[in-house]
Amino acid sequence: MSDSTGDIAQAIVSVCRDFYQTDQPIELYRPSFDQSEVQALSDVLASGWVAMGGEPVSEFEKTLAAFVGVEHAVATIHATAALHLSLECLGVGHEDLVITQANTFIAPVNAIRYVGAKPHFIDVDTDTMGMSAQALATFIETECERRDDGLYHRATGQRVAACLPVHVLGLPCRIEEIQSLCGAASLPLIEDAAEALGSGFSSQQGTKLCGSFGDVGVVSFNANKLITTGSGGVLLTNDQALADRARHLSRVAKVPHAYEAKFDEVGYNYGMPTLNASVGLAQWQKLGEIQASKRTLAERYQSAMGSMRGVRFIQAVEHATSNDWIMAVVFDQTDQASEFIQSTHRLGVLTRPLWEPLHLSRAHQRSPRSALPNTEWLYGRVVQLPSWPML
Ligand SMILES: Cc1ncc(COP(=O)(O)O)c(C=O)c1O
Repeated sequence: MSDSTGDIAQAIVSVCRDFYQTDQPIELYRPSFDQSEVQALSDVLASGWVAMGGEPVSEFEKTLAAFVGVEHAVATIHATAALHLSLECLGVGHEDLVITQANTFIAPVNAIRYVGAKPHFIDVDTDTMGMSAQALATFIETECERRDDGLYHRATGQRVAACLPVHVLGLPCRIEEIQSLCGAASLPLIEDAAEALGSGFSSQQGTKLCGSFGDVGVVSFNANKLITTGSGGVLLTNDQALADRARHLSRVAKVPHAYEAKFDEVGYNYGMPTLNASVGLAQWQKLGEIQASKRTLAERYQSAMGSMRGVRFIQAVEHATSNDWIMAVVFDQTDQASEFIQSTHRLGVLTRPLWEPLHLSRAHQRSPRSALPNTEWLYGRVVQLPSWPML
């Protein structure tokens, strides 16, 4: 027995109206700016150095590396570029397979295709919504074989060149287990933490943040992320050689020289512009405030849903902390989830379903995959709620 969709919609709408103090439509996300970004931008404009490579870019990189707990950060024009560079720097190429999930924004899967590789979708967990460590173990054990030079997919003979899990909506996936499975199989791990800046796991040893578990981690700063640079991303790693190569490729592979323009390979124009980094540094000062505001909202949603039947506010699993990037509820019944979206839209609160799983999308439906029951189960039931901070 569940509460009526109307009652659940009304409870969510009340939380939103009370939190955002507006009778206007309430969208899923909205960035928060004030005079500090205006000042940062005008300082950069006055300096004349707006393109990639200015001092604010290095400062933004150092700030991020220190925060996430890795040695190197390479700032890029968007996280998709950082994912593309990660795959290229880890040697993923034509006809390779990359193990990933279908429950994600499309960017990581597109990046796999950019290097000529194929995504192989495995299932996710219903609680984290991210890659299932169990599904990964099963895939490696039952469908792959280890050879001297790496892991191969038995049926097709293709090399399995990397594993790319995603922390969905800021909820950490079971990355420690995935990391140890990848380690045992000598499988490079690219951690898509685009949505998970500040999310992580706590133990007696302290807290370890998402983006620091993989050979490479990637975070996004696009307009709907926790902090934004307008458009931006970062590649995080402890591997100095990988960071150097990623930086080089991101700056069109130009050989450093005072005045000559020579290029030593096919690079990309992927570096983060100084203008963007300056906005990122101004936003960085507000990270604590943003997180606190989002936590307050999460607690209100959670308490409003606590007494409802047939629906549950989604929280991080034990020992994990979410950055509350996009908060969401999961319904027992699919028809209730879609009625809820329609009801909240009628009331001016613009909730959304999850992304269409990529094995069903026209873009990636031909990709190989394992059984994906949890991915499909979640798609029909999860609804994203307005999640921007009030500063
Ligand atoms: C899971 C995930 N990966 C990658 C990206 C790509 O980020 P960007 O828009 O910075 O390229 C996003 C963007 O929202 C994302 O949600």
